[in-house]
Amino acid sequence: MGMLHAGSMPSELLDLARSIAIEAGELAALRRREGVEVADTKSSVVDVVTEADREVERLIRNRLADARPDDGILGEEGGGHSGTSGLTWVVDPIDGTTNYLYGIPHYAVSIAVVEGEPDPLSWVDVAGVVFNPASGELYAAAIGEGATLGGIPIRVAPTVPLGEALVGTGFAYASEMRGIQGAIVTRLLPKVRDIRRQGTASLDLCFVAAGRLNAFFERTLSPWDHAAGAIIAREAGAVVKGLGDQAPSRDFVLAAEPVLAATIEGELTALGVAEPPLSR
Ligand code: IPD
Ligand code: CA
Ligand code: CA
Repeated sequence: MGMLHAGSMPSELLDLARSIAIEAGELAALRRREGVEVADTKSSVVDVVTEADREVERLIRNRLADARPDDGILGEEGGGHSGTSGLTWVVDPIDGTTNYLYGIPHYAVSIAVVEGEPDPLSWVDVAGVVFNPASGELYAAAIGEGATLGGIPIRVAPTVPLGEALVGTGFAYASEMRGIQGAIVTRLLPKVRDIRRQGTASLDLCFVAAGRLNAFFERTLSPWDHAAGAIIAREAGAVVKGLGDQAPSRDFVLAAEPVLAATIEGELTALGVAEPPLSR
């Protein structure tokens, strides 16, 4: 565990993350009410960005630059720069952009602060917030202080047998990878209670934290998709991991109550989830 937090208390950093996430979420919700259009596409025709994604990230960057000028930042729309404090903010201005575009009220501002470089394989958790302005639900956690939903402590669901597990997952934007992911889900579906594909990875992790899902797994996630949600899920008693002894990364993210996590990882590995190996 890092000891420095660059001289700042995780709870103070969490307070800052929370106030910025609320302001950013309110801006996203306002823009949603005004109407949202695709501004551009990224990795594929279905990987869209709206003007709101960019505007919300600019707001978050401006607030962080004012309050924490020495920290680094990694954001989905604006890239990264390193700081001098040892802390890095990892930001997804709108996670669940497809839901946002379609008016489905399940999207979130995700803001994490970590110690170290913006690399999920090496960074150390400090604090995270995931805020869905459409539902008003705000999930938060600072390291060692537990996780909350709307200020009330939350806890991962008790373990269940695989056959009773409600499992969240998600799919990449790249067509070929989606086919591979769909084949894994086809094999997993008969063995679990049911599958959910809700479209917002940060909220999937928070749902594990709140006991609304028993488990969540996904490949091809980016650091900003899982940074804050992983801190919240861990503080709620979940394991959040990659394959084997790896930390969560683009290659694989799994979150669940610890006993169930081991069962699901074994099952998914047997079903071939590790193929093809992905670079982070
Ligand atoms: C996406 C969402 C989705 C997940 C994708 C992510 P975006 O993020 O988290 O649930 O399945 O892998 O890319 O593009 O909406 O920020
Ligand atoms: Ca995202
Ligand atoms: Ca996004």
